[in-house]
Amino acid sequence: MPRFRKIGILSSGGDAPGMNAAIRAATRRALSQGLEVVGIQGGYAGLLSAADEPDKEVIRQKYLRPFDTASVSNIVYRGGTILYSSRCPEFKTEEGMNKALKACHDNEIDAIVAIGGDGTFRGATDLTNHGIPSIGIPATIDNDITATEQTIGFDTALNTALGMFDSLRDTAESHARCLVTEVMGNGCGFLSLYLALATGANALAIPEIPFDREQAIKTIGEARTRCGKRGILAIIGEGMPKIDGKDYGEIFKNEIIERTGIDTRYNKIGHIIRGGNPTLRDRLTATQMGVEAVNKLLEGRSNLVICVNENRITATDINFALVLDKMYKNKLKDGDLDNFTAFQVAQMKARCEARAAKIERLYNMAYDISM
Ligand code: F6P
Repeated sequence: MPRFRKIGILSSGGDAPGMNAAIRAATRRALSQGLEVVGIQGGYAGLLSAADEPDKEVIRQKYLRPFDTASVSNIVYRGGTILYSSRCPEFKTEEGMNKALKACHDNEIDAIVAIGGDGTFRGATDLTNHGIPSIGIPATIDNDITATEQTIGFDTALNTALGMFDSLRDTAESHARCLVTEVMGNGCGFLSLYLALATGANALAIPEIPFDREQAIKTIGEARTRCGKRGILAIIGEGMPKIDGKDYGEIFKNEIIERTGIDTRYNKIGHIIRGGNPTLRDRLTATQMGVEAVNKLLEGRSNLVICVNENRITATDINFALVLDKMYKNKLKDGDLDNFTAFQVAQMKARCEARAAKIERLYNMAYDISM
């Protein structure tokens, strides 16, 4: 017999293609195991609004929608999230947490599946600590959750951007131009790195690797003079520092013009890669993660983030995952490692090193074969 009667599912933070596939899978798996499911609308903010709303019917319609199997029909192929999403600073306060707990208790929500990025997981672990067992599913186009090799949405965003870069290549070739393009990523260079490899870009700047602008401009110049390239692509990962208040890519573009005389334009690929129908890969990953999240709750487990590593669906303790992330992003504070054994800290270090080594290897590869 399941330990829970009713679970709530929410999506939070930046939406990502494949969130709907995860919502569908978690809902159907829970229903098939005799659980009730509530679709929490608008992320953690939806929970807080439910606590403030006295009318039960309004709650059911606007904030905590009872889900049956038909509620998640025909969504596996759709981008965005039918549960809507938000970023909710109030949830991080004590008052916000109290409201969330009230909403769960008043509406008999016993456990939560939270789909999103690291902010979403911080919320999930806080809920678990306050007696609402929660499990996280990583969904963000940025692929910036260190505990998992793949986040839901990353593959779709890559494929969407790839089509855009192919179009940029057409116009760059036609006009013999260099096109410098910033790609979203929130300080994580994976999107830019994979795109550089897949589009044959001649320059790539990502926050994780020191960037030699002088050398890159020289390389771009040589691509034209030595290799006769007409169209030249340069990719800038979001998170490269502003220079004199201007985008890194803007400055880079100006320097390319000054130093090489190549006609150059700068543009940005922003939110457009967050939408669109999820790819096969994202749908498969999301579906397996959604099922696994519910399975873990049924096993009596909580405070986990579902991951994919070496092509297997796994689960990692959320606290471990959050501190691992901090370690990778050099954001560790005093005391962050206190609750972990020496073995766990060594595991974290090994994971960080492996991830950094992968990025460096692929980065060097991109440059090696760019001409
Ligand atoms: O995390 C996904 C992401 O699209 C990042 O790539 C980007 O930095 C951020 O969200 C943008 O956030 P918002 O949509 O809130 O402006």
